[in-house]
Amino acid sequence: MITEPLDEARLLDRAEELAALLVDSVEGGASVGFLAPLDAAQALAWWRGRAAAMATGELAVWAAYEGTRVVGTVSLVFPDKPNSRHRAELVKLMVHREARGRGLGRRLLDTAERAAVAAGVTLLHLDTETDSPAEHLYRAAGWTRLGEIPDYAASPAGVLRPTTIYYKQVGAGARAA
Ligand SMILES: CC(C)(COP(=O)(O)OP(=O)(O)OC[C@H]1O[C@@H](n2cnc3c(N)ncnc32)[C@H](O)[C@@H]1OP(=O)(O)O)[C@@H](O)C(=O)NCCC(=O)NCCS
Repeated sequence: MITEPLDEARLLDRAEELAALLVDSVEGGASVGFLAPLDAAQALAWWRGRAAAMATGELAVWAAYEGTRVVGTVSLVFPDKPNSRHRAELVKLMVHREARGRGLGRRLLDTAERAAVAAGVTLLHLDTETDSPAEHLYRAAGWTRLGEIPDYAASPAGVLRPTTIYYKQVGAGARAA
């Protein structure tokens, strides 16, 4: 299993596999921005649309492979505001259902955290559906649970669900904390 950062060309090259991963996550009930059933074409268009944000440096995307197949991904979103250059939001951490429970999610999380530190980021944050499996992963990785927002987003089935906010001070931010 390896993880690699994608550039725009590689993202477009791998967009169909990333789309399949997104469809699989939504089918599995994960709250990752879409309602079920998610159409493969819609998922593909969404991933292709990410390339523009990568070009401006607002988005970084990693893929994880088993063999040559993409089975996981994670992204960091960097705010464009001058007062927020020190922070990034962790989004779209997804592992294909066939590849879960083997440490890939944790490895992708570690990859994104290390890259954030290398980019000078000192604060990471994220939101995740309350009581989702991902919560265990973030807590185990030392993220701090801030609290819940009720009715934050619809589940793939269309039911409003709460989200839980997490943050983690990293790099110089962790040393100063
Ligand atoms: C969350 C997700 C990325 C975890 O991926 P994974 O490869 O199965 O995770 P790992 O194998 O690295 O497991 C990491 C930790 O989470 C725990 N974990 C994984 N799945 C779990 C589950 N269903 N219930 C409870 N704990 C779980 C593991 O036991 C492990 O804990 P440990 O380090 O204490 O042993 C994966 O379930 C997923 O893609 N979910 C759908 C998308 C999603 O919800 N993403 C989060 C959006 S914010």
